[in-house]
Amino acid sequence: MSEQQIQPQLFYALPLRDVVIFPQMTTTILVGRAKSINSVEEARRVGAPIFAVTQTNSDRDEFDEKNIHKTGTLCKIIEAIRTPDGTLKIIVQGLVRARIKEISLSERFFACQLDIVVEQKISLENNKEILGLIKAVIENFTKYAQYNRRITPEVLAGIIKSRTPHDVLYAVASLIGGSLKNKQQILEEDDMAKKFYKLLEMLKGDIEIGEAETRINKSIQEKFTKHQKEVYLHEQLKNIKKELGQDEETEVKELKEKLARLKLTKEARKKCDVELKKLEKMNPYSSESGVIRNYLDWICALPWHKKSQLLNDLNKAKKILDKHHYGLEKIKERIIEFIAVQMKTKDFKGPILCLVGAPGVGKTSLAKSIAESLGRKYVKVSLGGIRDESEIRGHRRTYIGSMPGRIIQSMRKVETINPMILLDEIDKMSHDFRGDPASALLEVLDPEQNCNFSDHYLEVDYDLSKAMFVATANSTETIPIPLRDRMEIIKLSGYTEDEKLHIAKEHLIPKQRKENGLNADEFTISDEAILELIRRYTFEAGVRNLSREIANLTRKTAKVIVTKEADSLHITKENLRQYAGVEKKNFGIVREHDTIGVTTGLAYTEYGGDLLDIEALKFEGSGKIQITGRLGEVMKESAWAALSYARAIAKKFKIDAKKFNKYDFHIHVPEGATPKDGPSAGVALCVSLISVLTNRAVRKDVAMTGEITLTGKVIGIGGLKEKLLAALRGRIKTVLIPKDNVKDLEEMPKEVLEKLQIKPIAKIEEAFEECLAKETKSKDA
Ligand SMILES: Nc1ncnc2c1ncn2[C@@H]1O[C@H](COP(=O)(O)OP(=O)(O)O)[C@@H](O)[C@H]1O
Ligand SMILES: [Mg+2]
Repeated sequence: MSEQQIQPQLFYALPLRDVVIFPQMTTTILVGRAKSINSVEEARRVGAPIFAVTQTNSDRDEFDEKNIHKTGTLCKIIEAIRTPDGTLKIIVQGLVRARIKEISLSERFFACQLDIVVEQKISLENNKEILGLIKAVIENFTKYAQYNRRITPEVLAGIIKSRTPHDVLYAVASLIGGSLKNKQQILEEDDMAKKFYKLLEMLKGDIEIGEAETRINKSIQEKFTKHQKEVYLHEQLKNIKKELGQDEETEVKELKEKLARLKLTKEARKKCDVELKKLEKMNPYSSESGVIRNYLDWICALPWHKKSQLLNDLNKAKKILDKHHYGLEKIKERIIEFIAVQMKTKDFKGPILCLVGAPGVGKTSLAKSIAESLGRKYVKVSLGGIRDESEIRGHRRTYIGSMPGRIIQSMRKVETINPMILLDEIDKMSHDFRGDPASALLEVLDPEQNCNFSDHYLEVDYDLSKAMFVATANSTETIPIPLRDRMEIIKLSGYTEDEKLHIAKEHLIPKQRKENGLNADEFTISDEAILELIRRYTFEAGVRNLSREIANLTRKTAKVIVTKEADSLHITKENLRQYAGVEKKNFGIVREHDTIGVTTGLAYTEYGGDLLDIEALKFEGSGKIQITGRLGEVMKESAWAALSYARAIAKKFKIDAKKFNKYDFHIHVPEGATPKDGPSAGVALCVSLISVLTNRAVRKDVAMTGEITLTGKVIGIGGLKEKLLAALRGRIKTVLIPKDNVKDLEEMPKEVLEKLQIKPIAKIEEAFEECLAKETKSKDA
């Protein structure tokens, strides 16, 4: 449609209140004013276009210069439909811009004389500005489309494909939002570039609004959905609680009643009242109220007055100890003494018992029996691996998910104020930057302080003075010293084979039978098989692994019976392997032959005692000494001392002193991977060296322990019982011990004293006499 077709003449007009119509644009308009309807109908009748023009003021109805913009768009009426309420719905399509020349006065119609605007002709070639503007508009419009759902990809594609700058301009202008004023300005402007700039300005503004809107919507949406969810869940919770007959008011009420019934300390009562007041004012579903409720729950659950009735019968106590533990006579005696003092004194403030010994010797189970014999409830606090003070004392309530420390937790568990609290593995505690748990424990154990024990979570003091504490440890050396000073140490050494056999038969086997639902006929095991288990499957001072092996056998038996393979199982030495599997570990056992340069020492390890071969070798060289087998500093020094002493006494053994410079010596202690230390191998080291120097073999059935001085004196060592037990187990006949240790023999099990020949020595020479065989000639001697 070319502009020239329409001559300046009288046109019917349609004043618009809230839209600007651009050329090219197709739109629907509702026509309500009678004069407007008449204009539309008349134009339709004569087949003329209609002049759509926007009002300057939408509130008014007049069609005059003041109320009407000058520039509008001549439109083709495509469709007109009468609606039931009398208005006219028309679809129009913009053709060209036109300006009012003169408004005609008419009673029935709106009409005016127009000047058709002839659009600027623009050649796009070489017009970089317009090309750039078109590109910018399309880019920005694409962005705008993201925020406006009305602009579908098809619409967008249509605009990108437009052929003239006008097409782009008017299409975009009619699709975007923005004020009527701005749109009218675009319509009125004749300069193409200016039109584009104005449009771009509008687009940018719209995009910014769109972006802000999206942001706002998103945050509102988030808040809204979160809030809605909470409301919904709380509503559900309320309903559930109602179903269960516990809505939140009754809950607080119940809590209040419960607290009222407690006999709290003054301080605790005050604190509870404050917290309850806070709670009542709070939204019951807020997280803060949860924290307070949790706190008050702790107060309710802790014992404040309830005690167990303590027993006062020493004989009964003895019986209880004997019932659960075989042997341990000396230790039981000490415990009974301790118990007796406790029973006598009302407010016992004595030292804290600490049971020390290798794993599985019965520390934990003895502690349990002590509690039973005193009529106290028992609770265990495992301290192994604790490195943080707050594990003992708790976290402040400001921490998320905070809780009281382990002491208060265990008080809640036992529900009485006078339990026996076992501080298990007190030597396995460590500390780091978060504070030292040992110092918190000191406060727990101090009878002067523990009536006011403070836990960070609890905030109010708690009285621990009625509780009794017993500790256990594997070794005293790793117990923090201030703690050790508070404690009375009772050492439990390992068991002999014979004791283990008894423990297995009288305690471990019946216990495991019961646990696996077997009666006495269904699972039996011969003594020989038990001894095999002790010797070849376990390697320990205590009976923990033995207990495990027996448990394993009973489980296998239960399976055999359930699967109807057999009615019962009798384990013998012969069929043991079939059920227990291959032997786990061989402990040191006597060598097969007397050997030059190899001496049997005795070691004291974490698992009890063991035989330790000390090997020496000489070969041509220049008097150097090499020591291998992961020996600690002390043991190495001990090897040097042995060599010096051997040098010093060479003459006596008719060893040519020059030999020391002709040979290098290598001392090795298998098993190379296990670290070893301590001075107690001195005697054995010296014997090995003299053995290689004199070519006299060392008797295989003699074992020895003892430290030596540079003058050849033999001095005392520790762990004698474990070492003798290892010797017995290893089928050694004679053991050389330092004279200093003779006093320890009193405490040795009878079996050890009967089966071993124990020879105390004071000087190293005595050892040579005992264990070196006659000289054997060899080539290199
Ligand atoms: N003398 C004993 N008599 C009976 N059973 C024992 C004896 N010593 C240890 N036990 C048992 O051995 C197992 C391990 O003992 P436990 O007390 O856990 O050792 P620890 O705490 O010293 O590592 C327990 O089942 C215990 O009953
Ligand atoms: Mg234990």
